[in-house]
Amino acid sequence: MVAMTIMATGAATADNISIATPNTQMVLSANQGEDLRYLYYGARVTDQDVETIGSVESAYYSVYPAYGLYCQSEPAIAVTHADGSLATQLAVENVETTSETVSQPCVAGKGKTATVTRIKLKDTVYDFYVTVCYRTYADADVIETWTEITNNEKKAVKLRRFDSGFLPVRKGNVWVSHLSGSWSNEANVTEEPLTPGIMVIENKDGIRNAHTSHAEIMLSLDGKARENSGDIIGAALCYTGNYKIRIKTHDDESHQLFAGINEENSEYILAKGETFETPILAITYSREGLSGASRNFHKWGRNYQLAHGDQERRILLNSWEGIYFGINEDAMDQMMEDIASMGGELFVMDDGWFGTKYQRNSDNAALGDWDVDERKLPNGIGILVDDAKKHGIDFGIWIEPEMTNTTSALYEEHPDWIIKSPLREAIPGRGGTQLILDMANPEVQDFAFSIVDNLMQADPEISYIKWDANMSVNNHGSQYLTADKQSHATIEYHRGLVNLCKRIREKYPDLTIQDCASGGGRVNWGFLPYFDEFWTSDNNDALQRIYMQWGTSYFFPAIAMGAHIGASPGHQTFRLIPLKFRIDVAMSGRLGMEIQPKTLSEEERELCRNTIADYKKIRPVVQFGDIYRLVSPFDNLGVASLMYVSEDKSQAAFYWYKIGHFMNEHLPRVRMAGLDPDKNYKITELNRIDNEPLAFEGKTFSGAFLMANGLEIPYNHNVDYHKNTSWASRILYLCEE
Ligand code: DGJ
Repeated sequence: MVAMTIMATGAATADNISIATPNTQMVLSANQGEDLRYLYYGARVTDQDVETIGSVESAYYSVYPAYGLYCQSEPAIAVTHADGSLATQLAVENVETTSETVSQPCVAGKGKTATVTRIKLKDTVYDFYVTVCYRTYADADVIETWTEITNNEKKAVKLRRFDSGFLPVRKGNVWVSHLSGSWSNEANVTEEPLTPGIMVIENKDGIRNAHTSHAEIMLSLDGKARENSGDIIGAALCYTGNYKIRIKTHDDESHQLFAGINEENSEYILAKGETFETPILAITYSREGLSGASRNFHKWGRNYQLAHGDQERRILLNSWEGIYFGINEDAMDQMMEDIASMGGELFVMDDGWFGTKYQRNSDNAALGDWDVDERKLPNGIGILVDDAKKHGIDFGIWIEPEMTNTTSALYEEHPDWIIKSPLREAIPGRGGTQLILDMANPEVQDFAFSIVDNLMQADPEISYIKWDANMSVNNHGSQYLTADKQSHATIEYHRGLVNLCKRIREKYPDLTIQDCASGGGRVNWGFLPYFDEFWTSDNNDALQRIYMQWGTSYFFPAIAMGAHIGASPGHQTFRLIPLKFRIDVAMSGRLGMEIQPKTLSEEERELCRNTIADYKKIRPVVQFGDIYRLVSPFDNLGVASLMYVSEDKSQAAFYWYKIGHFMNEHLPRVRMAGLDPDKNYKITELNRIDNEPLAFEGKTFSGAFLMANGLEIPYNHNVDYHKNTSWASRILYLCEE
């Protein structure tokens, strides 16, 4: 949660209360002594409407439905009270609205003001409280909601369900869009109508909660979602651990959305006097289709939920696919020299640099032994940092702080630090020897902190850390937690992890840190206040990346989306893809390279050099601009297209990819979006490989024309005969004339 300082407090018990953002609003009925009732969520309404809106709603919805009375539908909270009763009934005690200053160390909005509304509910019988909280910002169309659950009963109570929030959505032709996949195939979009019954999207991995299903959804209120029109509600649960999203299509007029920590095998014993805070559920509403809802999430995220969301990201080379575990000084120097010579700004040394007692030559040893392997790097890391400086670039390094291997000095010393059920053998993961360190244990948190701290103390000029996590919880349990708290294991793990991240950020606020978890395993807003970006996927195949980056962009902005130019054949799919296409896909995110540059021909190097120079031109538009997705790859129209438009609409970057390989295919002409109809834009093609410029190169068109008609993009590249392939892609830079 964003830490804040209270500046001003006002308290009131109101009738209808309004939670508003610039373009959205929620209205609740909060009569003292009564149920907190949900009345409205959607576009802004007038003060008059706030007064009368309750008369429109015929159905009755609690804001935080509790199990016990009227239990026919789903509850958001279920409690076993100290006396064994399963029934809870909550009534409004008071409403408080405060202005608070954002004080989270790394977010761009630090120092800005947020409005927080807290509605305290009390059980009508027990000394048991739920405070329903909302946070809004003057420049973001997202409402953050969470709850604080307090037990003042005579003894502990058991929380059997404890969602972050609930939202009823009026029935109609409501569709849900959600992301799912698996390792190297993350974030595929599924769109389906909501039908009677209950839809559950959840994760139980324990560590990587975004490889399979994602903790975010879009609801289209008027039929299958469109990109640039239609009413959308978006919801994102900001949590690093196991989660559950339920959409119950009830027998009344509503679909009912619940989201929170996955309560399965995680009942929480709330001690007397203890308060349990649920993670933030961020919701948005847009009348401008899926892209509109995405823009709301992106803008909110860049300002309030992502580390350094206002700072341009550097163009980097990561060593992994170029050299894997074969790290050595000469190779690092060569890679640094190569990326610097092409205009890159950062080099990251990936896995394989550490381990003395056991060497890290494959994935089965040495995690936890974070001392430099002097057989590979006899002069340590300092010399690499200096070397990077010599080449005029920055230096970054890979770590996997939450993990160990059975073959490691750390494990030999601290077998009690790993996650496992106390009396059982641990089931290893990656490499047949990997194990997870239990972040619930403060000693483990201290150890993980020391990994970053030691690196930074020794070489303060390290400016980037890639933080990896490559294993699922295979064996539920904690050797640290007491027997009565075993069901808290995953919750405590993630509390410990977030505490650790906060501690690192307090000491190292300026460090760039990448959130990587075998690729896109931790793409979630709950993690990003401490991280500058995520590694979108371990799969660098440009064709498949178009799909994965498309889905990811529903909720996450390009500035945070690591997108690297990989090798051909690709290391995951073995597909042969021309460099131009690989470049054009990577250029729609945070551009980097994942390749051994010495394998590039002089001509390819020249293309990369031009690419990097071109990316620098459009970087502010891509990284801070508004996304407009135009043609979805998931619609199978043979083409995928999207664009970014600067906030003042003076510049844009348009991306077009031919995604099929058929002769005489007839592709749709793509209409642009998001431009100012009254402005004129000059077109320049970037990364050009054609012998002749496009017919419209250097020509100027009105925004109105480009949005109503679009440009006819040739299906092939005009190149020498032997350079022809079935691939085609274009990036157009639009600049106001
Ligand atoms: C998984 C990551 O996603 C890769 O990029 C790489 O860092 C490897 N781990 C290293 O083991």
